[in-house]
Amino acid sequence: MKPTASKKLASLPPYLFVLLAKLKAQAESAGHSVIDLGQGSPDLPSPARVVAALKASIDKPWTHRYPANSGLPALRQAIADWYRRRFKVTLDPDTQVLPLVGSKEGIAHLFMALLEPGDSVLVPNPCYPVHYNGVVLAGGKPRLMPLSESMGYLPDLRKITPAAAKAAKVMILNYPNNPTGAVLESNLLLEDALDFSRKHGCLIAYDNAYSELTFDGYRAPSILQIPGAFERAVEFHSFSKTYSMAGWRIGFAVGNAEALAHLGKFKGFLDYGIPSFIQEAAIEALTGPQDYVAEACRTYQRRRDAMVKALAKIGWEVPVSKASMYLWARLPKKAARLKSLKFAERLILEHGVVISPGIGFGPHGEGYMRISLIAPEAQLEEAAGRIGACLAKLK
Ligand SMILES: Cc1ncc(COP(=O)(O)O)c(C=O)c1O
Repeated sequence: MKPTASKKLASLPPYLFVLLAKLKAQAESAGHSVIDLGQGSPDLPSPARVVAALKASIDKPWTHRYPANSGLPALRQAIADWYRRRFKVTLDPDTQVLPLVGSKEGIAHLFMALLEPGDSVLVPNPCYPVHYNGVVLAGGKPRLMPLSESMGYLPDLRKITPAAAKAAKVMILNYPNNPTGAVLESNLLLEDALDFSRKHGCLIAYDNAYSELTFDGYRAPSILQIPGAFERAVEFHSFSKTYSMAGWRIGFAVGNAEALAHLGKFKGFLDYGIPSFIQEAAIEALTGPQDYVAEACRTYQRRRDAMVKALAKIGWEVPVSKASMYLWARLPKKAARLKSLKFAERLILEHGVVISPGIGFGPHGEGYMRISLIAPEAQLEEAAGRIGACLAKLK
């Protein structure tokens, strides 16, 4: 007997970053010293005080047992307190806060908890891959909301047909946006999305994973700041980007109590929650001094400026992101006839630079590349030089 994948799984291509990792390994075995600006995995070390809290916590034997599925009460309280300080929004820590094994896990499982086979979800495109793949794996049907440069990468909700609006069970939105780095300059889209939800009945899932990584004085909003949002929205947050804790696997969802109860129930069948020593360290992350986050923002902003300048030098004009850890740019003119994946392959295999092809974020990402600012300035400049050499070889 040969095991076969489900139709849902078989319908998806391999995960983009698994593919990039394979190409990177190939380049390394051919002798390249690879500069990896592919995945959004922060290179900064997690805060020292958080690492110390983890070490202290793991010495307590109770943290070695199965964790509480809905998270430690002290963590839920720390999340609610952080939220009130940051967004001036009050959350009930018992019903409106749910710790997650990373927000990726929570987003994927939310779809599985809520969707019937064939249910439709409004998904921006390009998007963080789980926003699309999570729907497919849950048996749902993603309905794409194109994001275009000319519209500031905001979806046009008026273009959703009445039938599509009526059918949608969930709408997903994500600002600061991955992969485009776009931000909300006003609350208009959030208000429109909530009006849309009131009219048509879908839940708004708002992915705010990059809320704290903002530059040039920009502050990202929470959808829960909009009146009436608690009836219609859940919001996802991550420790991965804010505190460079991507490998620790911890995030959280806040907002609509019914949706969180369904997600919590679903997770109860699947996982045992986050290891308690990681939860205790996360409490330290949220409750201790926040100067680490401000410093991380300054670091990414400096890198952004250095990379935009270095790319301009090789003739690639790249928009300046106000948030996230990404630059998102049209393929350089000389590479425009190549598809984004071909250009990425060439850069990795011939020049040892990993950047992400736009197509990996969906069909509306084709023609673009995403560069993660996850290396010090000198390496970013070296990468820009190698990209320049690759372009010089193109006819
Ligand atoms: C928009 C967005 N949401 C969620 C995540 C996942 O974060 P986590 O590490 O909390 O699972 C990412 C990771 O890149 C992301 O870009």
